[in-house]
Amino acid sequence: MKRYTDRIALVTGGANGIGKATCRRLCEEGATVIIADYNLKSAQEYASQLYSEGYSALAIHFNALDTASCREIVEKTVDIYGRLDLLVNVVGGNDLHKDLAAGELDLNYFDEMMSLNVKSMLASSQSALHYMKRGRNGAIVNIASIGGLTADYRGTLYGIAKAGVINLTRYIASQYGKFGIRCNAVAPGLVMTPAAKQNLSERQDKIFLKHISLPYLGEAEHIAAVVAFLGSSDAAYITGQTIIADGGMTCHNPTVADMAVMVSAEAAR
Ligand SMILES: NC(=O)c1ccc[n+]([C@@H]2O[C@H](COP(=O)([O-])OP(=O)(O)OC[C@H]3O[C@@H](n4cnc5c(N)ncnc54)[C@H](O)[C@@H]3O)[C@@H](O)[C@H]2O)c1
Repeated sequence: MKRYTDRIALVTGGANGIGKATCRRLCEEGATVIIADYNLKSAQEYASQLYSEGYSALAIHFNALDTASCREIVEKTVDIYGRLDLLVNVVGGNDLHKDLAAGELDLNYFDEMMSLNVKSMLASSQSALHYMKRGRNGAIVNIASIGGLTADYRGTLYGIAKAGVINLTRYIASQYGKFGIRCNAVAPGLVMTPAAKQNLSERQDKIFLKHISLPYLGEAEHIAAVVAFLGSSDAAYITGQTIIADGGMTCHNPTVADMAVMVSAEAAR
């Protein structure tokens, strides 16, 4: 499938995890991809690797915590390629040592969390909208999280910020749809990126496997496929939406796993 031939796509956080898989997927579909990341070395190595495979990719330095940098990556893209067709806002995350339950979390961490997870996406989107409006065409895909739709025992600031991403997506879609610009989000559940693997124990993986509907955990490529769909003309009539890609974690009553075990134990008696 080549849905991105002659298209220019900018991916933040493209050097690793979901962003990295998204860059590859978009390249495979014909896009020229700009990999924006604060780990410039990894981004450059990845761009070279993609280039050696016959794809078109360029690495640029980016710091999501710096509003000027969020704008610059868009401006640089347009300076170099003359256009921007797709902006994928991937960068986000939290430090689970600081982002605790509401009563215990470090309030000094609030501004950084909002800046990393929401303000950065708004800032890069502002610049992208400026150019996309001129061409009366373009798409933005934001990476949210099921943490922005449901509550957890910790990660409160992350959840608040990702809920913001989901509503930012609706606002942009509503305000810029008439310019032919679409904005959607993906809300992943657990995705086994290097960062997630580092943070999770095998026991925690098992907890997720118990509570998702599918028998396997999420991979970055699963999310990249949804991003590629939402950014493409296949999703031409979809805007303002958040597609949940969580293996069926949030689609059901939370008691399902326990009830299933209980019912099969009763049946075995
Ligand atoms: N992995 C999951 O389980 C999961 C689940 C739900 C949502 N998400 C969301 O998906 C997105 C990507 O997550 P991931 O697991 O792929 O992350 P990751 O840590 O694997 O990759 C993040 C990338 O962003 C870059 N980056 C981090 N901070 C940056 C900054 N301040 N400026 C510029 N670049 C920066 C890193 O260098 C890295 O290349 C995040 O928004 C995250 O909240 C992830």
